[in-house]
Amino acid sequence: MSLFRYDDVSAIIRNASARFIMPRYKALSDHEISSKTNPTDLVTQADTEAEYYLEQELPKIIQGSTVIGEEGVSRNDKTIDALKDKDQTFWVVDPVDGTYNFVHGSEKFGVMVALVQNGETIASWIYDPLNDSMTFAEKGAGAHKDGHALNIKSSDKELKDIDIYLSPKFFPSKIRDDIKAARSGFKSAGTIGCAAHEYLDVAQNKRSATIYCRLKPWDHLAGVLLVQESGGYVAKWDKTPYTPQDVYGGLIATTSKQNWREIYNHVFADIDLSPYLKK
Ligand code: IPD
Ligand code: CA
Ligand code: CA
Repeated sequence: MSLFRYDDVSAIIRNASARFIMPRYKALSDHEISSKTNPTDLVTQADTEAEYYLEQELPKIIQGSTVIGEEGVSRNDKTIDALKDKDQTFWVVDPVDGTYNFVHGSEKFGVMVALVQNGETIASWIYDPLNDSMTFAEKGAGAHKDGHALNIKSSDKELKDIDIYLSPKFFPSKIRDDIKAARSGFKSAGTIGCAAHEYLDVAQNKRSATIYCRLKPWDHLAGVLLVQESGGYVAKWDKTPYTPQDVYGGLIATTSKQNWREIYNHVFADIDLSPYLKK
């Protein structure tokens, strides 16, 4: 018997959105918004209340499971260390991904939940509240968006035909100029400021790739499983698989191993990555 019922988790995520997120869309008061590490790193009442709700509800699905959420970790950064314990079951939650977009009334935001058991991501949900669209991936069992299977067309491409999501601002300042320069080799290289939608686009053949620095688990666990289960290829910059315990370096998620190599060789051609891979 499965550990969880997919629909039970989806219902909780939809409830979190209906009760705490959507009522605030384009209706936030100034006092409901604050910044965290910098003026564009925002948190709202929607983020904190949705996360609190998920924290109460998700553990009811699997006995003994706990929630690790972005906003909880931002209050106490030690809580992220729990993910190293491979005997525990975790729900890793990003209550609003794309908070900057959400605050500014743009469409690209979502809710991400990843289920981690025995140290690996075994299922993930990405919810797009505006379209009431739920994407679900299960390790070894594929990925579905609103009941339709997702299959990446993994055609190998030349660099000039690869459209990638790439946001230099999150890269270390020492290599940021090189990363900016690397954008010109691609067909296109921009960002929509929402990892949830960026991963969704790769899984749906709308984009060839996405590359990230800063491996916060709530930003990546759900999307990485989604791309893998849709038939794509993901690896960290050190060329090893991405796991819930990884917090250093970055990753590339794309449609084929050949495209991964093409992107890696181009972006990092003149960069010594060693200072950024392990701490
Ligand atoms: C951010 C978005 C953005 C990504 C950042 C994240 P948040 O998440 O996913 O696309 O590039 O690294 O922090 O803060 O809006 O949940
Ligand atoms: Ca996020
Ligand atoms: Ca967030």
